[in-house]
Amino acid sequence: MTKLGRLYPLLDSVGLPDNLPYTQVSDWELRFLYLVGRHHLAGRDRIVELGSGGGGSTYALALGLRESPVFDEQTGRLHAYDFFRVGKGTFATEKFFTAGAKPDGENSFLDDFRTTLGPFLPFLEIHAGDIWQTSDPDDTTPIEFLHIDIAKTARVFRCVSERFLTRLRPGSVVLHQDFAGPRLPWLHYSTGALLPYIEIAGPPIRSTLAFEVTRPISEDVLKRISEDAFSLDEKLALISAVQERVDRDHTGGIPFKSVLELAKAYVAHYAGEHRRAWSIAKPLTGDEYLSRTRADHFEQLRKAYEADRATGGGSRLTRLVRKAVRG
Ligand SMILES: C[S@@+](CC[C@H](N)C(=O)[O-])C[C@H]1O[C@@H](n2cnc3c(N)ncnc32)[C@H](O)[C@@H]1O
Repeated sequence: MTKLGRLYPLLDSVGLPDNLPYTQVSDWELRFLYLVGRHHLAGRDRIVELGSGGGGSTYALALGLRESPVFDEQTGRLHAYDFFRVGKGTFATEKFFTAGAKPDGENSFLDDFRTTLGPFLPFLEIHAGDIWQTSDPDDTTPIEFLHIDIAKTARVFRCVSERFLTRLRPGSVVLHQDFAGPRLPWLHYSTGALLPYIEIAGPPIRSTLAFEVTRPISEDVLKRISEDAFSLDEKLALISAVQERVDRDHTGGIPFKSVLELAKAYVAHYAGEHRRAWSIAKPLTGDEYLSRTRADHFEQLRKAYEADRATGGGSRLTRLVRKAVRG
């Protein structure tokens, strides 16, 4: 069993306070964050959360650190990154305000976050703003723990991979909160590229895949991940490699093999290969979980395919670009 795997049997016994802030992660994931902080992390290297939102996930992790017998609040630091404001392109919701809605003339929920996380402020370092601006390209300090709940776009994932994944060392722990999101396939194929260097903790906990780095990650692999330098077929093969390692999540509710298959369709979709995307996605429309939870994804992929068919597969230029992307 992996070191992180030892936390799974403890999940049922965690009781978190009732007054946690509004959160978009499940109770299971909050408990896992608490357990990682309480039983796994030492706090000697950086502890980083990317995408703290209203602070629900931050709170659970910080509480675990506070109750840890080894984390030293004088020297250990939990770094929280977020826009801490609502608005176009932020992916933040008004529910992150304590009032549950945006007050007139106010976009920032940073003060609410500070108030909510008040008990932990002495060891919390807040980085408010776009992660491309608030993270330091020259920072090479090792990261012990990385919670990734921010990589909603390829642009942001590039920042995550360039400035954070490069700082992982053997023993570092990563939690990918959006692993059940087929529209974010960069999470899946990058994990496939990292497989030789990591150990997956166990079944995902709801949407979160956890892994531990077991050997130094090749610089070349990190560069390819940052530069998204994989052909379409390579990306699909990398996702297939992850499919061999994950099945249903810990609660039994999410069939990851199917979710990852739909992520492959999105790889093709983003490459402009709409016919191929739909040929991957169509057989999945019969999947009970996906048809119940991802009807909008099927609709998007089907429409793109039909529009593509109507134009005979796109212009000559589009076809040339696709050929280049395929590699
Ligand atoms: C799903 S929410 C985080 C939810 C949170 N972990 C919780 O417990 O509810 C994603 C967060 O990512 C942040 N985010 C997305 N892109 C960002 C960027 N480029 N820079 C900083 N924050 C970003 C949003 O502001 C949003 O709060």
